[in-house]
Amino acid sequence: MNIKCHSKNDPNKIAIIGAGGVGATTAYALMIEGIASEIILIDINKDRAEGEAMDLNHGSSFVKPVEVHAGDYSDCAEANIIIITAGANQQPDETRLDLVKKNTEIFKQIIPKITKYNQDAILLVVTNPVDILTYVTLKLSGFPKERVIGSGTVLDSSRFRSLISRNCGIAASNVHGYIIGEHGDSEVPVWSLTNIAGTKIDDYCPICDGDCSSNNRDQIAHKVKDAAYEIIERKGSTFYAVALAVARIVRAIIRDENAILTVSSLMEGNYGIDDISLSLPTIVNSSGIAKVLDLPLNKEEKDQFVNSAITLKETAKTLDL
Ligand code: 2OP
Repeated sequence: MNIKCHSKNDPNKIAIIGAGGVGATTAYALMIEGIASEIILIDINKDRAEGEAMDLNHGSSFVKPVEVHAGDYSDCAEANIIIITAGANQQPDETRLDLVKKNTEIFKQIIPKITKYNQDAILLVVTNPVDILTYVTLKLSGFPKERVIGSGTVLDSSRFRSLISRNCGIAASNVHGYIIGEHGDSEVPVWSLTNIAGTKIDDYCPICDGDCSSNNRDQIAHKVKDAAYEIIERKGSTFYAVALAVARIVRAIIRDENAILTVSSLMEGNYGIDDISLSLPTIVNSSGIAKVLDLPLNKEEKDQFVNSAITLKETAKTLDL
């Protein structure tokens, strides 16, 4: 395949800012995926980044050739994708939006350090609250909207598909469905477009072995929305599934896939929403955001999406950007 690169950057060089649980596990997922030639871990705690790089490198005989090392911001030069995972983590009694002030302050330090060395990369934001911080990154970097992406609800859509998959006894890869809006409490399950074998889920129900009641659908949507709370209560943080979601987005970029993923990006009149970042099904390729899709949602889903956007816009208004 002829891989297009939007700049002079090395298409397979990836920098990860933040070598905590999410950053290090993302590096691990990327290594196993075998798509990066170089992964640089950058963390305020250099020892931590070095330790993670050493640990990852010791597995290099089991994966496709890749160089993993700890670095500093100057190592962002020529990276094609810069993944930002740094920031404070959600604690058991916090929502994602509770993190907004502290993590915006952290981003005000980080983003200029990145843009000093690289003006051409795709910035992939993972830190929570991811939608607001994607918007903050867009404003602070001055990068074009195509190159500022949030991991958004890619993870939630995977949680949704995996719960439907278990309920219906169908492989998750054969269940198509999206969670849109905020990666957080106001997210929206799009049942009207959910399908199995090209069949709308409502029409699939008569042959489904699972529980297709509206009560069970509500439970699935609640489980998706509350998944992070449930996991954080038990083990303190989440990192495996989000790392796989990030590796999936990176693959769509590096391989110029035109994959449809519910990443977060700047809205420009989608369902009447402007000037905030959040998730809709989006075509992702080597340029980053190729096209945000306004699919035919039903009225309830559209209203919920607009409410989710309003929640985020109100939070963004409280920030001094
Ligand atoms: C998650 O949903 C905490 O946003 C993170 O797992």
